[in-house]
Amino acid sequence: MRMYDIIEKKRDGKKLSNEEIRFFVDGYTNDNIPDYQVSALMMAVFFQDMTEEERAELTMAMVESGDLVDLSAISGIKVDKHSTGGVGDTTTLILAPLVASAGVPVAKMSGRGLGHTGGTIDKLEAVPGFHVEISIEAFINLVNRNKVAVIGQTGNLTPADKKLYSLRDVTATVNSIPLIASSIMSKKIASGADAIVLDVKTGAGAFMKELDDARELAQAMVSIGNRVGRNTMAVISDMSQPLGKAVGNALEIKEAIETLQGHGPEDLTELCIELGSQMVVLANKADNLDEARKQLTDNLNSGKAIEQFKVFLEAQGGDAHVADNPDLLPQSSYTFDLPAKESGTVSEIEAEGIGTAAMMLGAGRKEKDSGIDLSVGIVLNKKIGDPVSKGESLLKIHANTDTIDDVTEKLYASIVISNRTVEKPPLIYENVS
Ligand code: URA
Ligand code: CA
Repeated sequence: MRMYDIIEKKRDGKKLSNEEIRFFVDGYTNDNIPDYQVSALMMAVFFQDMTEEERAELTMAMVESGDLVDLSAISGIKVDKHSTGGVGDTTTLILAPLVASAGVPVAKMSGRGLGHTGGTIDKLEAVPGFHVEISIEAFINLVNRNKVAVIGQTGNLTPADKKLYSLRDVTATVNSIPLIASSIMSKKIASGADAIVLDVKTGAGAFMKELDDARELAQAMVSIGNRVGRNTMAVISDMSQPLGKAVGNALEIKEAIETLQGHGPEDLTELCIELGSQMVVLANKADNLDEARKQLTDNLNSGKAIEQFKVFLEAQGGDAHVADNPDLLPQSSYTFDLPAKESGTVSEIEAEGIGTAAMMLGAGRKEKDSGIDLSVGIVLNKKIGDPVSKGESLLKIHANTDTIDDVTEKLYASIVISNRTVEKPPLIYENVS
């Protein structure tokens, strides 16, 4: 088999065989095929697309390029959740203990963040003592005992995806539905998930700004999952503004605690119940979505969900008292309100701008190895559709410096106040299964 022929075939819009897909993925992973040939193939895929069968084969070739996490020692159906990325996305912190409280085993592998705010692990490390450096055996035991544990990424997962993604990043081929879908799904499958719930974001702050594109990506990932034997569904949700109110590591832990106690922001709570009930149904822990929703809502209101969070924190060395006393979380030295410059209705809160402002305060990494400040960030007081009077606080800035002119400038540039009436955007557009 020759790489030249594979490139030519895809260039001409033909379907690659399973053997051809395996040949280039394995060859590239093992450094037997050069970057320039794989670049050409990625560009051919960008223009010619792939069939559902090709996408599934590409996904499994990437999965099998490295280690596969074996979670078979955990009893029950392991359901994982993946979000295509948002600003201040606190859902994982809430969903893990919430669905565990309904009996679903949550064996979460998570990463550190780059840009905006930290990843789930960075956020959890805002809880004094919490750590993820546990062996895979201890991790499995914790999930069997407590239904939930979080570990950092271990082993050599999907090396083919790492190489391909880096190459796509510099050859203008990231933005291709078959390539994005197979990249994301390969990582979920290699992490050992039996079933997958996807939260595909759309709107100004999302990767897929248009609903049609988000739907196409959702359908592509759902098709791959179901073809390779992982029950998969997707929820398409709004990212035209940040979800919830808090953007920042300790601030998001506090928001997660409030939500698990049943008094979190309405949009964040509703999205967690929607995603969570889909997870409960895929795990066979409820007969239908209504039953699952009722169970999760009851667990938020009865204290069962927050108790599950405390058990989870303690099992990994964390101080569970933070749930009753959030002041134990890292606190910034200064807080500042951002007053509205005019009266009207909030019509835009550009999620990326808010995320960038949080990063400028130190909440996110500028580079892979930089440190982060767990205490800083932004808490919104207003969301799209809210009326505001001149001088009223739009948001609160948590900072460890009192020179924040560049941050306030970024924030003002990210928020638009209009003199017409503005509807709240819908939270959930549709489900794909
Ligand atoms: N995220 C991924 O993991 N892969 C892509 O290709 C794009 C976004
Ligand atoms: Ca948030």
